[in-house]
Parts: sequence; structure tokens; C-alpha cells
Amino acid sequence: MTMTIGIIGSGALGTNFARMLANSGRSAIIANSRGPASLAPLVQELGPLIQAGTVQQAASADIVLVAVRWVDAERVLSSLPAWAGRIVIDGTNPVEFFDPATSPDAQDASNPLAAYGIKPVDLGAQHSSQMIRQWVPGARLVKAFNHNDVNVLKEPAVAGGKRVLFYSGDDADAKAAVREIMATAGFFPVDLGALDVGGPLASLPFGALSTHNFVSL
Ligand SMILES: NC(=O)c1ccc[n+]([C@@H]2O[C@H](COP(=O)([O-])OP(=O)(O)OC[C@H]3O[C@@H](n4cnc5c(N)ncnc54)[C@H](OP(=O)(O)O)[C@@H]3O)[C@@H](O)[C@H]2O)c1
Repeated sequence: MTMTIGIIGSGALGTNFARMLANSGRSAIIANSRGPASLAPLVQELGPLIQAGTVQQAASADIVLVAVRWVDAERVLSSLPAWAGRIVIDGTNPVEFFDPATSPDAQDASNPLAAYGIKPVDLGAQHSSQMIRQWVPGARLVKAFNHNDVNVLKEPAVAGGKRVLFYSGDDADAKAAVREIMATAGFFPVDLGALDVGGPLASLPFGALSTHNFVSL
């Protein structure tokens, strides 16, 4: 039986993930902070496969993409039903956004991402997947869909090949389910191994495999 998919967050990542699913014939429930009515134009655009729901409805799916900003993640995740083995795809990155035109943060010479309006969040000795893991107890966690600009999700076939999407996690079946979503959408999925290995490698801002566009020919 096909697993159900929920999406928490309807911004750049959530909407483009939903569009990718719709384009590959998969259905999903998408939710945001403002409620289902605010998503009427989006679901009208994406067609009948994508439905608007509450956060609780989206979080009750078999596979749940977390597509909220880092600063909101802990609060959003703390209010959800027990995970009981369901799959969470963590699409977040530990960054804060600011307006590069007006914020003094744009002048921070120690931040190589300042011009893009992004600054890293100080997580101390932890990496972000360790923290998300604590916030989704009982879930099978897979890190994915976070390592590139969301616009890549619109274009799986490029330069005569398939665009590479990385994923990592500690549960083989959960990773296979995420891999299947990527492959069905036309991407070339690459398993980076355990969450403690692949998470930091593919995480913005400084993961060695983040922000690069790899294509499998
Ligand atoms: N943008 C990219 O290219 C990109 C690429 C890879 C990964 N990411 C990561 O993906 C995550 C989302 O980024 P984004 O660019 O999509 O951000 P965004 O456009 O600001 O969207 C964030 C979404 O989170 C929702 N949200 C906030 N609080 C919520 C709550 N309490 N309950 C339910 N939904 C809530 C917002 O709801 P409302 O719409 O109601 O405000 C909004 O739809 C971030 O962690 C980011 O680092 C982004």
C-alpha cells in the first residue's frame, strides 16, 4: 500500500516538494501556520493530488516532511501527535534569515553567506540532525531535500542526466521509502549513510556536500 505523505510548512521548500510530488503522481496533505483556507490558491494550482490540511493532519501521515524554518522547528515539533515509528523527513537547515539590504548582519565579514541573507545558528557541539532527533522521539528520521536551493526540485532531468539528491538516516526501510519518492520524481538518490555522517555532510551552511549541484550522467 502506498504510504501517505504530509508536509508541514508551505513556504519555498514545502510548496516545491508538493509540486514535485504532484508532478510524479503522488498525493500529499500540506499544512502551514495559517490554516487550510490560506492554502486554497496553492491546492488549486497543484491539482487534486495535493490537499490542504491542519498541521495535525499533515503530521499524522506515514511520511512527514518538516519544512519550517530552524527557529520554528522545536516549537512546531513539540505539539505533534506521537510518532510511533512514522517517518520524518527533516528538510531544515540550522540557519537564520535576514534582509541583506537592511540588516547589520549583512556586514559580518566572518559570515561567508552574509550577502545571501543567511547566517548560521550556533548549535554548540551538536549538529542539527542530533537536535531534530531529540525533537521527534519515536520517529524514523531521514535527512533529505535540504541541501540545495528548492528550485532544483522543479527540474530532476538536467544536462543530459538526473540531478542527485542526498539522503541519510539510521533506518533502512525509512530511507528506502524516501529514496523511492526521489526516484519516482526522476532524481538520482544517493545514500550518505547514517544520520550522524550524512546529516552534517549535506547540511547548510557549511556541509561539504551542500549547495553543490551534482548530476548523474
Ligand atoms: N528555501 C530553500 O531554498 C530551502 C532549501 C532547502 C532547505 N530549506 C529549509 O527548509 C525550511 C523551510 O524553508 P523555507 O524557505 O520553505 O521557509 P519559508 O518559505 O519561510 O516557509 C516556512 C513555512 O513554515 C511554516 N510555519 C511556521 N511556523 C509554523 C507552525 N507553527 N505550524 C505550521 N507551519 C509553520 C510557515 O507557515 P505560514 O506560511 O503560515 O507562515 C511557512 O509556510 C528551512 O529550515 C530552510 O532552511 C530551504
